[in-house]
Amino acid sequence: MLFLLVAINLFIYIECQVLYQQPEQVHISIGNNASEMYVSWVTMNDTKNSFVQYGLYSLRDLNLKAVGSSSKFVDGGSQKRTMFIHRVKLTNLKADTVYTYNVGSNSGWSDIFFFKTWRTDPNWSPRFAIYGDMGNSNAQSLARLQQETRKNFYDAILHVGDFAYDMDSDNARVGDQFMRQIESIAAYVPYMTCPGNHEQAYNFSNYRFRFGMPRNGDGESIYYSYDVGPVHIISFSTEVYFYLQYGTQQIRNQFAWLEQDLIKANKNRAERPWIVTMAHRPMYCSNNDNDDCSKYESIIRTGLPYLGYGLEDLFYQYGVDVMIWAHEHSYERLWPIYDRTVCNGSLAQPYIEPGAPIHITTGSAGCRERHDGFIPIQPYMTAFRSDDYGYTRMQFFNSSHAYFEQVSDDKKGEIIDKTWIVKSKHGIYSYADNSGKCKGSLPENP
Ligand SMILES: [Fe+2]
Repeated sequence: MLFLLVAINLFIYIECQVLYQQPEQVHISIGNNASEMYVSWVTMNDTKNSFVQYGLYSLRDLNLKAVGSSSKFVDGGSQKRTMFIHRVKLTNLKADTVYTYNVGSNSGWSDIFFFKTWRTDPNWSPRFAIYGDMGNSNAQSLARLQQETRKNFYDAILHVGDFAYDMDSDNARVGDQFMRQIESIAAYVPYMTCPGNHEQAYNFSNYRFRFGMPRNGDGESIYYSYDVGPVHIISFSTEVYFYLQYGTQQIRNQFAWLEQDLIKANKNRAERPWIVTMAHRPMYCSNNDNDDCSKYESIIRTGLPYLGYGLEDLFYQYGVDVMIWAHEHSYERLWPIYDRTVCNGSLAQPYIEPGAPIHITTGSAGCRERHDGFIPIQPYMTAFRSDDYGYTRMQFFNSSHAYFEQVSDDKKGEIIDKTWIVKSKHGIYSYADNSGKCKGSLPENP
């Protein structure tokens, strides 16, 4: 009898090994430069190998093979579910070229996907879709994004924190569902991310393991940067300022890295003139909830009490052009602003030679928490705001012209806001340059 039970258990164990070695949740992100691509996926059991087979789309032949590795991920929930997260770096890719690929091992292979590499030079016009706060349920913008990805609308997608609601829920099964759901876009264009508050469980472990971003920051996708066309994009975590139970060292490390990265980016501005940051919680907003950008002073902007490390001065000092945020389930575009003072603010379009960074908050992709509303009177720092579900499109045409538009999914894809930013000169802002441009200031400590 005992022998029979052992045999049955052994059979079930072997069956499980066979059943759960299929690759799933395939997604890609740019490597440390445009000739590299990270390909990531999940298997529920160890497969020993992690391969990507790839080749030129035109030949329809997966004649190249890259080898990577997998990490065993143990979720922090009560069931301590495990999975294996595979990551393979493709290198020496030809620029501006479409590749086909599939992923897997001798235990199972995925479907075939494709992606187009970026050009490595700055003289092209990358196109982005940008949003935050997209969940599994009520992911209203996803269908439109899937269609547009198929139609080659985008060179990258930027997800500005808050995924799945939440990736750790139901012992990380919600994270699995989410990653399967976005495969339809994230396996085809680089899906670039930053962490939000909904990723905080178990020290952001679901986020850190599942997403593989460039390794030039902390190496765990919390902060990093990359060049794309005429733009240098910096992604970082606002959440290190809020979950202090995981330590404050990360605030110091991130701040020091941000400054070094900005110094380096400024030395390279002749080649990559635009600097854009993306992180989850905005410095300014006009929402009517209890978040710190509306009712209280933003600690991202001014720093933590007794500790500091506020980021507005740093970003102003090093001439960041655009700051992208999410967290508020709405869209809000501000006039150029620094230190609660609107610079170059007028109702004229477009922004011409703005005297301070431009903030855009776009956290309305759709999630179970629904919309966030606004305070009734629109403050004068705000150029446009809407709480329709939707997402932002961004394109950098060249060194002087960038274009932004807001897609309303509620209004069936209608463009509800659009604007150009025109800058003949990028770099460090100074009060001297801004003389006469900055008008009025917001009340202190609203
Ligand atoms: Fe959030």
